[in-house]
Amino acid sequence: MVETTAPQLNLGLSEEARRGVADILKTLLADEMVLYVKLRNYHWNVTGPQFIALHELFEEQYDALAEVIDDTAERIRQYGEMTPGTLEEFKKLARLTEQPGEYPDWRTMVANLVADHEALIRYLREDTDKIDDDYDDIASEDFLTGLLQQHQKMAWLLRAHLEGA
Ligand SMILES: [Fe+2]
Repeated sequence: MVETTAPQLNLGLSEEARRGVADILKTLLADEMVLYVKLRNYHWNVTGPQFIALHELFEEQYDALAEVIDDTAERIRQYGEMTPGTLEEFKKLARLTEQPGEYPDWRTMVANLVADHEALIRYLREDTDKIDDDYDDIASEDFLTGLLQQHQKMAWLLRAHLEGA
């Protein structure tokens, strides 16, 4: 039996760029996990006249985020790093925050989710700029730009519930 080892990873990026991009993805993964759990929480605990609409919308969004999370985690592996996979690490890494023990009314739930999606939109813009300026990694710019578009649509679908009501 011949023992083989994988060849050295060569993505055409400097070591600094490879690590820098992976760090951005780890932070993004943690934020997506916080938002995913918040959507689950609100799906379970929402009440009021918009119950069915919001219960279902929150589910659609956490299902979409489950795919985003998996894609993000697998990209970290593609950059040669281990993917954070524990709640403790996610909590430490995340920029988004939770509100434990609070069960807000449906309007506050929707407003909190809009705020989180919009915060992510701003983070994704900054991260994309940094990847362009410092690391010149077109694949990651493209990936983050796709996520930015998804969060824009999710923010709009939520925001519409608060407008004209
Ligand atoms: Fe459910």
